[in-house]
Amino acid sequence: MISLDLGHIMTEVDFDSYRDRVRQIHHDMHQKIGAGSDFLGWIDWPLAYDKEEFQRILDLAERMKGKYDTVLVCGIGGSYLGARAALEMIKGLYPNDGIEVIFIGNTFSHTYLSQILEHIRDREVVLNVISKSGTTTETSISFRIFKKFMEEKYGAEAKERIYATTDAKRGTLKALADQEGYEEFVIPDNIGGRYSVFTAVGLLPLALSGVNITELMQGALDAFHDLNNEDLLSNPAYQYAVMRRILNEKGYTAEYFVTYHLQLTMIAEWWKQLFGESEGKEFKGVLPTSACFSTDLHSLGQFIQEGSKMEYETILYIDNMPQDIIFPDDAEDLDHMNYLSGKPLSWVNQMAFEGTLSAHSEVGNNPNMVIHLRDNSARAFGYMIYFFFLACGMSCYLLDINPFNQPGVEVYKKKMFSLLGKE
Ligand code: PA5
Repeated sequence: MISLDLGHIMTEVDFDSYRDRVRQIHHDMHQKIGAGSDFLGWIDWPLAYDKEEFQRILDLAERMKGKYDTVLVCGIGGSYLGARAALEMIKGLYPNDGIEVIFIGNTFSHTYLSQILEHIRDREVVLNVISKSGTTTETSISFRIFKKFMEEKYGAEAKERIYATTDAKRGTLKALADQEGYEEFVIPDNIGGRYSVFTAVGLLPLALSGVNITELMQGALDAFHDLNNEDLLSNPAYQYAVMRRILNEKGYTAEYFVTYHLQLTMIAEWWKQLFGESEGKEFKGVLPTSACFSTDLHSLGQFIQEGSKMEYETILYIDNMPQDIIFPDDAEDLDHMNYLSGKPLSWVNQMAFEGTLSAHSEVGNNPNMVIHLRDNSARAFGYMIYFFFLACGMSCYLLDINPFNQPGVEVYKKKMFSLLGKE
């Protein structure tokens, strides 16, 4: 499903010196010991997930089928990025199935939220609010506003259309959901936000959006089995993690996550959160940034090719994307594009990928890694996400960082709360 191409990294690689350390960390992660081990629930989640809750998610999506055309997903960070990444990768940016998914709870932008209120006025809506802590300000503000919208629109029926995903026992959202009688779904204690896409956090909005979550979990399980392998020499997730460390030690401090389809940009956003919040601590870590080519070759391409050398690139290349277009011939050829007549656009994109890979690595001397993923199916998505979870855990532990906390995020909140007058 995934293969890692290390043929363009422009540097000597000595995996042998990492092998024992990787083996040790692999066993610690699987035995759930070490820094942050209380949050290693994701590691065997593809086997251990709550099957009863999974069925409830399928039942809810089935029960509500035909009763809505708009899904509002209210959450931020790990409570929305995974679902959005999956949705866009699997269904594309303009799916033709009559269901629109709109993300709220991830911004204070009054303009954005006002436009959505207008946009959905005459739509049939369901609302999934997602917050592990139950107190995240962006999410709470949106939820109060859109809860009111739902109550004004649907009256008593609103509670059949609002679903809360939160802690099983504690928190403000849990108490509110109990009080209002919303159907509830659980974010397990031992899984942090950015590792939660295989829980109800990702699965419920995806099921409501028409994504096949059974296939998605099968992909995660495939990866769990394939990558439950202590040997660095045959585990591509650990090779990716070790390459990040090798390149960082050589002085590279930024990683561009590159994709070749606009519908993959949210995968990059999800990946940035995963690696940024997990690794950026104690003044260590590689800055995770991203670009979508060829679009961004027309903005960032110059810098990547010839600017100061601080970055390497990791390209997520999906080998089979659907819905190709054959470039049409034109008898007059006024635009001088007939040299591409009859060629599929997938081939043009592939040539852009190959040409850029060569320009950035061989000419620009930037290390490039290529992660090939078979296709953009739900199963491939599940596989890829588990691959990155594992790689991220390994990468952090190799750097002696706890992958599962985010102490720095609290600092802006304290400053903001003091300005907002929150006690
Ligand atoms: O990964 C994380 O832990 C964070 O990004 C959280 O998911 C995010 O801050 C939202 O938190 P909550 O689910 O508590 O509203």
